[in-house]
Amino acid sequence: MTTCLGVNIDHVATLRQARSGHEPEPVMAGLLAQSAGAHGITVHLRADRRHIQDRDVRLLREVLSVPLNVECAASQEILEAIVPLKPHWVTLVPETREELTTQGGLDAIFLQAHLRTVVRELRSSDIRVSLFIDPQLDQVKMASRIEADGVEFNTGIYSDLPFGADPTPELDRIKESARLASRLGLKVLAGHGLTLQNVGPIAAIPEISELNIGHSIIGRAVMVGLDRAVQEMLDAIAKASA
Ligand code: PXP
Repeated sequence: MTTCLGVNIDHVATLRQARSGHEPEPVMAGLLAQSAGAHGITVHLRADRRHIQDRDVRLLREVLSVPLNVECAASQEILEAIVPLKPHWVTLVPETREELTTQGGLDAIFLQAHLRTVVRELRSSDIRVSLFIDPQLDQVKMASRIEADGVEFNTGIYSDLPFGADPTPELDRIKESARLASRLGLKVLAGHGLTLQNVGPIAAIPEISELNIGHSIIGRAVMVGLDRAVQEMLDAIAKASA
């Protein structure tokens, strides 16, 4: 089965916030990505609201017909904002104010007690929960133990490999983790730093059912339009995962 694509539209909101105005409208970007064939839309509601705002999540949830996935920190303040908006999925991520983008996966082992409570709270509101983790077997086992619905593997190390470096060891780690997650009944996703050039080997991993991609699609959309940027990524994924 072809791997699905979730398009992360945070950067559209970043551009809007640069002038604190109304354009470009992330809701329109979500609809355009959806009509170009995206299987889901992802946004990150950060504690500092540096790009996506609460109203974006609310409006996207109202107008989209594909699932909405909201990335957020596992903090009480942010959960209180998100739960009433009822996204289909929440992906719990580590978050610090200094970072430019998410750095590394959650440590599900260290945070197990807290994450268990948060996962339970979200699931009791009919929101499915994924944990953004590094591709490590003990992290996968813990995600299953705390009853998450899915895991998203951080592909940041793979994506940041210097030109010419052998990707095999990191790809093997992702493959092995994906096999275990699938065996444990978790939905398996991956993302971070994926581009038209490096997406193939990740899309070819059969257990990974969905990729979350933002920066390279929105960056390309500035040049060729969002419709074409989404379609190019869908084609690259389909070619590798068919
Ligand atoms: N997955 C998670 C959990 C993320 O935090 C991000 C970045 O917002 C992505 C996927 C997408 O990464 P990129 O923008 O590098 O494609």
